[in-house]
Amino acid sequence: MTDHRLGNLPDGIYGAELQRRIDEAAAAIRERLSGEPRLASPQLVFVLGSGLGGVVDLLDGTPRVSIPYGDIPHVPTGSVAGHAGELVAGIAHETAVIVLSGRAHPYEGYSHREATLLLRAVLTLGPRTLVLTNAAGGINPGFAAGEVMLIRDTINLSGENPLLGPNLDAFGPRFPAMTDAFDPPLRAAASRAAERAGITLHEGVYLMLSGPAYETRAELRMLRILGADAVGMSTVHEAIVARHADRRLLGFSLITNPATEDVEAGPTHEEVMEMGKVGGERLLAILRELLPDLV
Ligand code: HPA
Repeated sequence: MTDHRLGNLPDGIYGAELQRRIDEAAAAIRERLSGEPRLASPQLVFVLGSGLGGVVDLLDGTPRVSIPYGDIPHVPTGSVAGHAGELVAGIAHETAVIVLSGRAHPYEGYSHREATLLLRAVLTLGPRTLVLTNAAGGINPGFAAGEVMLIRDTINLSGENPLLGPNLDAFGPRFPAMTDAFDPPLRAAASRAAERAGITLHEGVYLMLSGPAYETRAELRMLRILGADAVGMSTVHEAIVARHADRRLLGFSLITNPATEDVEAGPTHEEVMEMGKVGGERLLAILRELLPDLV
């Protein structure tokens, strides 16, 4: 039943109804993992953006369980090429890990509450640490396509927030802090891992817009003035949900294209996918070094 006081949430998916859907999704995941007891209590979750499917290779070959998003009730499947849409559970460094390969984006028409439903279902399994990844435009003129940026902080200009509506007390407080959302000690470990791997790792501020249109030149100029180093269409809603639940958070952006006022032409989705692969290889090398600090 729709509560007319919540006119901004006309989909009706909030409060007790949202919690019910999260619980059903979580039950379905638990059921699929029940055949492999070692996978039942993951400590680490990766959320993969474009070009990062290779992260699954960080997991041991067995035991491994893959669940297509379509098999999990209430979870949006996502529709963009380059996003596989499956949950992969496995073991890395003797620790149970979940990889969310592909994500539903708000630009597809999902509310932030729906777009983070799967992540919240996975949070009920108890992971301590989340690693969020994305493809992003490089606002900072010092960044080149194919390079990787460690997310130091975020700006939410997406126009929404996943915590709108009644608070889900099972996850966290009404007004969670977002200062130092990206764990400072883990960020320091990531920088050291990149150095050991011999890979340049920038650090900066990721700004989320709803998309799906890429930015105008005037917008790119504005975003730089606002203090952004990279711009994209995901991640911040996930970061908010993770910090609401008080989890340890780390984030990386693959810089797929320059996003400065003087670019010759705006990016194409193909360019973003292609450079995402280049950055994806580099990030994978960093993650291999970093993994012992994450588990
Ligand atoms: N803008 C917004 N999102 C993006 C971009 C961009 O330039 N590149 C990859 N994702």
